[in-house]
Formats: sequence, C-alpha cells, structure tokens
Amino acid sequence: MKIQSLRGMPDLFPEDLERWHIFESKLYKIFHSFNTLEIRTPLLESTELFSRSVGSSSDIVNKELYSFLDRNEESISLRPEGSASVIRAIIQKKQEHEKHKLWYQGPMFRYERPQKGRFRQFHQVGVEYLGFEEGVSEYELISMVLQINKLIGISDYTIKINHLGDQLAKDSFCNSLVAFLQPHINELHEKDQVRLRSNPLRVLDSKEKSTQVLLKKGPKFQDYISEDSRNFLQNLVDTYSNHCNIQVDQSLVRGLDYYTGIVFESVSEKLGAQDAILGGGRYDNLSKQLGGKEMHAIGFAIGVERIIELLSIENIKQPLKVGFITLGEQIDKKTYKIADDLRSANNSIILDTFLSEGSLKSQLRRANKNNCSYVIIVGEDELKNDQVIWKDLRDDGEQELLTSKEVIDKYTNL
Ligand code: HAM
Repeated sequence: MKIQSLRGMPDLFPEDLERWHIFESKLYKIFHSFNTLEIRTPLLESTELFSRSVGSSSDIVNKELYSFLDRNEESISLRPEGSASVIRAIIQKKQEHEKHKLWYQGPMFRYERPQKGRFRQFHQVGVEYLGFEEGVSEYELISMVLQINKLIGISDYTIKINHLGDQLAKDSFCNSLVAFLQPHINELHEKDQVRLRSNPLRVLDSKEKSTQVLLKKGPKFQDYISEDSRNFLQNLVDTYSNHCNIQVDQSLVRGLDYYTGIVFESVSEKLGAQDAILGGGRYDNLSKQLGGKEMHAIGFAIGVERIIELLSIENIKQPLKVGFITLGEQIDKKTYKIADDLRSANNSIILDTFLSEGSLKSQLRRANKNNCSYVIIVGEDELKNDQVIWKDLRDDGEQELLTSKEVIDKYTNL
C-alpha cells in the first residue's frame, strides 16, 4: 500500500509555492522598512508552555495540541502558535527589559477538523512588539497590516477590533456574562453550554443564532473597560477609518487566553467560512505568567495559506526567463562557463537550463512551455567560433549570432 500524507497536512509543490515566494519577498521588504527583525524558535516546546499561555481551557490546548511523551517521559508539543515561544525565548535570554520588534514564520500545528482554509499543519507569519506599552505600537501594527494588504493587492477586507480592558475588567466582564447566561443555559446550544462552563468568553464567538440573539441583551465589554480604553479604541478606529474598513466588534475576544487590551482580526468574505486572514492583540501579562519579568507585548499572526488565496498574482510582474539550450554530447567546460558568466552578470533573470535533454526542437518546445522570452542556443559549430545563437521567442522567433562577450552584454541589459 502507498503511504499517504497525514490528513490536513498538505504537500506544497513548486506551482503552489510561486505565490508564497512573491508574498514572502514583499513581506520581508515591509519588515525591513519597519526595522522589525527575524527570530526563529523551535517547532517543539514543553507542553506546559502552551497550557500556561494559550490557556488550558482553550480549544487550542484542550483539543488541538499535538502532544506526546519524549524518550525521557516529558510531555512536549508541536507549537500551535508562535507568540508563547517568542516570549519564552526572550525570558530565557533575560531580555525582558529591552525593546524588541520581531517577526517569525513557519509551520504551526493544530489538530482541527480540516476544511477549506483550515489545516492541521499550516503556516503563520507573526510579528511581536515587546516592551512597548499601549499607545503608538497599536497604531504601528495596524499600519503594518494595511501596508501588507496593499502591497499584495488585497482591498476587500474588514478589520474587526475590540478592547478587552485590563485583566480586572476582563474578569469582571466574564463574571457578568456568566451571571447573565446561567439562567438561560438550557436555551444554549450544547457546544455553548460546554463553553460557558470551561471558557465563558468563547460563548461570544458562537455561530449559533439563538446564542447570538440572547447575547444582544447581555453585558457589553465597553461598559466594563475604562474611559481611557474606550477613547483609545475609538481614536484607533477614527484614525484608520478613512483608509480601510475598520469596525468595533464587541464580541471579538479571540481564542487564546493571554489577551488584554486591544484585540483585532482581519477578515475577508472571499475566504468562505474560515474568513480570518490574521489575528492578534495585546498580551501584557504573558511574560509574568511564564515566570519572566513584566513586559509589555502586542502582536499579530497572518495565516499564510489564507492570505496566499487572496494574493492577486495577475498584477505582479513575473521575472524575465531565458532558456539555455545545449545540444547532445557537446557539453563542455566552455558551455557551462557561458551559463555561469550570464548568471553572475544578471541574477535577476531566470536562466532556465534544459540540461541537453532532447533535440533542439523539443528543448525549444520546453522553453515556450516554461514561458521563456528568449533562448540562447549553444551549438557545436558556434561554440568552436566562440559564438552562440540568440533567439527571440516573443515575436517571430528572430535570431542572431553573438560572440560570448556580446551575449553577456545583451543579457546584462535586458
Ligand atoms: P490565531 O488567531 O490563533 O492567533 O491565528 C492567527 C491566524 O492563523 C488566523 O487568523 C488564521 O489566518 C491562521 N490559522 C489559525 N489556525 C489555522 C488553521 N488550522 N489552518 C489555517 N490557518 C490557520 C495566533 O496564533 C496568535 N499567536 C496571534 C498573535 C500574535 N497574537 C499576538 N501575537
């Protein structure tokens, strides 16, 4: 029997990754312009890291963690997200008192029910700003989100945003919510009854209509947070409302326990049921919760598979491609010197070599199929005279004979 990949863990082939590379290269430029630097943390961490951060009653830890005992009988887990590991790394390096603007990327693992836009191995690009209290960092991260969307051509999205207040306000809202829902527990869907017992704030996320109708009469976050927090939220929304569709959503609490303060998500209807492109917020208490010193923190993470789905590749300039055709057995040092010199002269062009596989005709067919604009043909006779054939594939296939020096000049100036 053939071995299959695990459910929800797809392979990514070159044709899929073309979009990923475009996305990544644009993203690196944005991070560079914000002076946000890369951090890499391991895929495996102790299970306790996630139960103490994401929350032991959250779905992510409760039902979705890939956990197992290692050979030393210690419980370890594949990371379901990146923020906890970044905080752990900074605490471990004793750098909580410093300021950090960091980004990371890589696979995350959650044992969820796979469906369109939802995988068990998926990829995130995350940003974490550490050491910055509520204020300018919220603005900078929303600006970054807008820039990312703009640069990759996403216009059809909404930013949902909420303020959860400090831990005290969050807890007090949570108590009121429980007090309000408890008498109606039998009207709630079974799933929401479980949530009410284990993680009440998650009831706000319920997709059940009857729950949503009930919640309309329930307590509102805005009544539990301070006036400063309310004003901060309103000012953020006012600042960006001319640039994007940004809306306060009082039911937005997010599925990870560590948030206090601003939380946000960017959603697109084009994605279907799994509509969140990215999500994030402030989590000032996490460092202490993980045994570190006090450290302000705010960040967000993009679901790469989802944002790639929205990337408008049509508007993106494809790099120029030139085919390099060598024939039969004539490959020698000279042939490869030409290819090496061409690549050194201009490495923004793709020099697509066909490795002498097949006749001139079949290699030309491959060049056309691979969207080459030109081909360079190194024939045996031409090589003797230090010449190559330059053929333009875009029009009528016009061709000319060039010396090896002339071809480099032409290639450099394409
Ligand atoms: P999250 O909302 O759990 O936040 O995940 C962020 C994004 O990852 C989601 O908006 C979604 O695009 C993508 N995502 C999540 N689960 C899946 C899945 N099963 N399949 C495909 N994509 C998925 C966090 O992970 C926080 N660490 C974000 C953060 C960073 N908060 C502060 N800093």
